[in-house]
Amino acid sequence: MTPDKDIQARIDRIGQFDGQTVTLKGWLYNKRSSGKLKFLQVRDGSGTIQCVVFKGNVGPAVFDAAEALTQESSVKITGTVKKDERSPIGFELDVTDLLEISRAEEYPISPKEHGTAFLMDHRHLWLRSSRQHAVLKVRAEIIRLVREFFDDNGFVLLDAPIFTPSACEGTSTLFGVDYFGEETAFLSQSGQLYMEAGAMAFGKVYCLGPTFRAEKSKTRRHLTEFWMVEPEVAYMDLAGDMELAEEFVSHVVQGVLESKRDELETLERDVSALEKVQTPFPRISYDEAIETLVEAGHEVTWGDDFGAEEETVLASRYDRPVLVHRYPKSCKAFYMKADSDRADLALCVDMLAPEGYGEIIGGGQREDDLATLVEGVNSHGLDESDFSWYLDLRRYGSVPHSGFGLGIERTVAWICGLPHVRETIPFPRLLGRLSP
Ligand code: 4AD
Ligand code: MG
Repeated sequence: MTPDKDIQARIDRIGQFDGQTVTLKGWLYNKRSSGKLKFLQVRDGSGTIQCVVFKGNVGPAVFDAAEALTQESSVKITGTVKKDERSPIGFELDVTDLLEISRAEEYPISPKEHGTAFLMDHRHLWLRSSRQHAVLKVRAEIIRLVREFFDDNGFVLLDAPIFTPSACEGTSTLFGVDYFGEETAFLSQSGQLYMEAGAMAFGKVYCLGPTFRAEKSKTRRHLTEFWMVEPEVAYMDLAGDMELAEEFVSHVVQGVLESKRDELETLERDVSALEKVQTPFPRISYDEAIETLVEAGHEVTWGDDFGAEEETVLASRYDRPVLVHRYPKSCKAFYMKADSDRADLALCVDMLAPEGYGEIIGGGQREDDLATLVEGVNSHGLDESDFSWYLDLRRYGSVPHSGFGLGIERTVAWICGLPHVRETIPFPRLLGRLSP
């Protein structure tokens, strides 16, 4: 075999080489035989193609090598690209030569059904399956679209630290790390406080990175490590924040619909539901939400935060995401600004995805008055000295400002139509799962 002289092709671009001889570098996905023919399903990361080995074309050595290939053995394979109407990609390969690179041991993930726990334990191998490819390619595209939206709209990417000295989203979900035996560092729950510093420096900023919550809840929506994108804008109020959030989410959803149709089809996603995700999104106040829930017979009282069940009921009334604004100040974080018309309400917003996918965005307008913010820090039982740098932002040219955080995994689950967030990230970290 002299592969270096051949055209090196990728399966997703194979159509460019119709009629030519090319070499593919990949892995055996599946195989079946019929007399003098062997049908090898070969994948190379970009796609899967059927490679046909005919004994009369290749001679016994190559035919035997094809026979010996086991599932997931790595292989270089040379052949002629041929149009084929029955092929999902429109082409197959007429094999002329084949070189086994490494023979795989008996592969644990066979085409038969496996339980979720087994697949999660073999996540490092499960990633090779076509369904996981579809999910993770949609994820990659969502992240590209997120960056595109902010980069094209005048935002500066400002990376937030992961080791942080204090809590941002409540002290009960902090992961502590010993920092040289001298102090405890906490894994970041949110880059928000740093983005506020960034907004005062650059006007419009965003960060996109991993965040951590020591949530002891085993739900379909909670990871202990998840990715969040957090824009923050100076001189923006809550109304502007909601407009930004709806523009942003519809850009992402419409972008995925444009470029990842095949993947959504693999996942059997009902795309008509996603096509409706156009601005403007409906807005309802927390007060209206409570009324709706009570009318529908739910046992909620004013002051309660909403759980998954309430979110599903509220969102089911709309065909696109709904913006729920002005929750009671008592159930939200210390940095939320109070509504000047109703001091018991926070100028905050949650975006609830349709079809029962729940909260994908949390955000709002930040308290910009120094004395009021100090009160907020103290009344939440936080140590004022931990926040001295943050309070500086209110000492030196404080302005109204707002932002939000969108959870990448919940967004992937919604767009892909997945019941659980565990498949939306390459290596999920959950309560009770730290491996592989
Ligand atoms: O509502 P949250 O807690 O808001 C904040 O952290 C703000 N500081 C963001 C900001 O204003 N800059 O989290 C924001 C989003 C949620 O709506 C959800 O999508 C996601 O982050 N999220 C989680 N995703 C997976 N697992 C978890 N445990 C999550 N916690 C929050
Ligand atoms: Mg929230």
